[in-house]
Amino acid sequence: MKVIVTNSFDQTCEIAAEMIGDVIHRKPDARLGLATGSTAQGVYPYLVKANRAGTLDFSRVSTINLDEYVGLAPDHPQSYRRFMDENLFDHINIDRKNTIVAKGTGDIEANVRAFRKALLERPIDVQLLGIGVDGHVGFNEPGKVLYDGAHVEELDESTIDANARFFENRDEVPTRAISMGMGDILRAKKLLLLATGENKADALKGLLLNEELDVQNPATLVKTHPDATVIIDRTLADKVGYKYQPIKR
Ligand code: F6R
Repeated sequence: MKVIVTNSFDQTCEIAAEMIGDVIHRKPDARLGLATGSTAQGVYPYLVKANRAGTLDFSRVSTINLDEYVGLAPDHPQSYRRFMDENLFDHINIDRKNTIVAKGTGDIEANVRAFRKALLERPIDVQLLGIGVDGHVGFNEPGKVLYDGAHVEELDESTIDANARFFENRDEVPTRAISMGMGDILRAKKLLLLATGENKADALKGLLLNEELDVQNPATLVKTHPDATVIIDRTLADKVGYKYQPIKR
């Protein structure tokens, strides 16, 4: 696992966007695995900027998102489909037919089956990941077991607390989500896990400071991946107690 320690969250996002851009340059019809939330939100403006500058073409790119809340229709302001449209897809030359976000309303079992089928269609070339305060990736929450494939996950109280900032009040935060499984994430050819903020330090310790794989900290499984890069800023690295070489750029 490669670890890059940057000078700022902004630099973290810029580097992640460049790495995603490199994948697309090498493979113009790449499949991107995408994430939502504040961390991923910092990356998308760099992709939009490169697309507008004419240096990054999304016309043959396809995408599939990690997760979607159960109970929110695609046009709900806090749905992950809407997040992706507003933060990325509305601003780049991607064919909307090539973007997949699981559907969180209607027949949920059928939606999970459809999402599983979509995941099987082709491998993910690069998967963007944030990390929850409890170590979740996608919405694979700590528990007795982790799941290989896409499934419905009950969100932890800490996740509901963390995501309440996006809703009028905590009661509106969905308690379940459709998520890629840990296996789906680990099958991506390349993983990019980004983090910022002191509240992510405990989860990061399990990933960066030891060799343990811990179902109570799902992000620790990222260390088993043959091509994973973790990008964090130095404020977070210091909080974690991770020793690093300062970045030269
Ligand atoms: C989002 C997702 C989550 C987030 C994580 C961090 O699609 O799968 O794992 O990446 O909850 O969220 P932020 O970046 O908002 O702290």
